Amino acid sequence: MKATAKAHTNIALIKYWGKRNEQLILPTNSSLSLTLDGFYTTTTVDFQENLTEDMFTLNDTPETGEIFRRVTTFLDLVRRLAGKEQLYANVKSMNQVPTAAGLASSASGFAALAAASTKAIGLELTDAELSRLTRQGSGSSSRSIYGGFAQWEMGKEEDGSDSYAIPIAPQEHWDIRMAAVVLSSKMKKISSREGMRRTVETSPFYDGWLQSIPADLDGIKKAIQAKDFTRVGEIAEANCLKMHATSLGAKPPFTYWLDATVRVMHQVQEMREQGIPAYFTIDAGPNVKVLYLPEHEKAVEKILREIPGVTDVILSKPGPGVTYL
Ligand code: DP6
Repeated sequence: MKATAKAHTNIALIKYWGKRNEQLILPTNSSLSLTLDGFYTTTTVDFQENLTEDMFTLNDTPETGEIFRRVTTFLDLVRRLAGKEQLYANVKSMNQVPTAAGLASSASGFAALAAASTKAIGLELTDAELSRLTRQGSGSSSRSIYGGFAQWEMGKEEDGSDSYAIPIAPQEHWDIRMAAVVLSSKMKKISSREGMRRTVETSPFYDGWLQSIPADLDGIKKAIQAKDFTRVGEIAEANCLKMHATSLGAKPPFTYWLDATVRVMHQVQEMREQGIPAYFTIDAGPNVKVLYLPEHEKAVEKILREIPGVTDVILSKPGPGVTYL
């Protein structure tokens, strides 16, 4: 009972920021992302009758701590769904995320784990069912089931049955690019989990964030269909700034930005003044992702690499959805 699956990471253009149910991972807003070609996880799940507990190795290193706990908790869901609660697995994951790229590997990680484990245990799920299950590993991973652009519908039901991602436009729809700008950082990390919890509970700006989501989603979907790069970039950049503004209003306040983060943001805005269309987005960390078009790749890369504090720039195209190997 063995299967291998590969899933790519995704970066949200309209952010998921806040949960209404922490256990089921149900969000307070719908979100929309671009799956990236450059970063992925390959996972093999082997369910074996003779095992008495799960085993998990990540990049050939056995894991026992918090990561292991999240993997087994997720496998419990898969076992329950299949009615095989006493069947344990040997799980091996390889993360193809360049070292210190500062890209969350949880999106590709849980999507690959969900795909491989359900296949190995003999479940046949639709993409929507797989996305709904994957969501319970890590919210953003629900979108990594699909290539190209995907939207995670927040849903309304308390049991989460209508909270899963749907495809918006496939990988081939549009050759838009994204650069991951890596910064050196020694800052203490506030996880996205902790950051969004504190913001939901304490930030007076949180309601404003929520109110702005429907128009952002509607606008960006139209712009994606029309391949209107300027519109996509403007909406994504503004959405990211609104998300980060909520954290400044939290108690105690916090920001994920470093001085170099702000330098990159200014440089991207300056590129636009020089006639290079480029826009940024930032997740729950200091690194910046820059959206641009293929014809500007050389210029964008050169400018980004010259910014003080930038340690690496990794370029990526739109990526595919989950595949089985
Ligand atoms: C800022 O999916 O990592 O990247 O559901 O708690 O595992 P959990 O959180 P996670 O949060 C991602 C937050 C974000 C925005 C986004 O990807 O939409």
